Amino acid sequence: MSRRRQIYEGKAKILFEGPEPGTVVQYFKDDTSTNSASGEDTNRSGTIIGKGVLNNRISEYLMSRIGDMGVPTHFIRRLNMREQLCREVDIIPLVVVVRNIAAGSFARRLGIVEGTRLPRTIVEFHYKSNELNDPLVTEEHIACFGWSSPSEIDEIISMSLRTNDFLSGLFMGIGIRLVDFKLEFGRFFMNDEIRTLLADEISPDNCRLWDVETNDKMDKDRFRHNLGGEAEAYQEVARRLGITPESGPRDLPGPTLIQ
Ligand code: TMP
Repeated sequence: MSRRRQIYEGKAKILFEGPEPGTVVQYFKDDTSTNSASGEDTNRSGTIIGKGVLNNRISEYLMSRIGDMGVPTHFIRRLNMREQLCREVDIIPLVVVVRNIAAGSFARRLGIVEGTRLPRTIVEFHYKSNELNDPLVTEEHIACFGWSSPSEIDEIISMSLRTNDFLSGLFMGIGIRLVDFKLEFGRFFMNDEIRTLLADEISPDNCRLWDVETNDKMDKDRFRHNLGGEAEAYQEVARRLGITPESGPRDLPGPTLIQ
């Protein structure tokens, strides 16, 4: 594995400089954590063995399919079991949550029974801040603080809804209900043009996925609510997508870090 300079370390991923200018390498860790935004009284950390390998594979698959469908993404190609090459983007400081069914913070905030189907899909914005636990914000806040422009927000909403339509159908085809998910977007500078790209990852870490028959949770809620069986649930999502890593999720050690 090549030696690379680390740009950023998050809860579940590390970003390294890529091999060419304008690229980054996303390394998927097995680490996981909750925060009070997801309804926990305390922040809790843990490890789901093999999660990074599965999320790298699942996100590769979903980002590639979404790109083929016409929503541009930062994903270029998977490099190995835990790393993927992506375009370097300026991350827009918004967490975009798309909801089809009431669950999580939405169900709690509005006192709606979890599992209630929403009359229409909702796109929510949260300000991306670990210290503030990603608070819910409106387009007024976004415009006021200049986090994004109205035309960029229109594009983000349109890309999010297209992604939702596509993923809802894809998951329904394998017996999984897409309850909600979060997206992040970035700005990519090409010549004199700025393009908005879907960035970060799409995996059971940032989607709620329920089995159509049993309503079993097949996502990070298993960790959030101490249900156990996280690795098995992520593995089952990969299996139904037809992309289970052949050698299993246990694999290579992490990359060599240069400080
Ligand atoms: P929530 O119900 O806790 O607000 O989460 C909605 C969905 O978005 C759920 O699938 C988890 C995901 N999410 C993240 O992955 N990261 C975040 O920072 C937030 C706010 C939500």
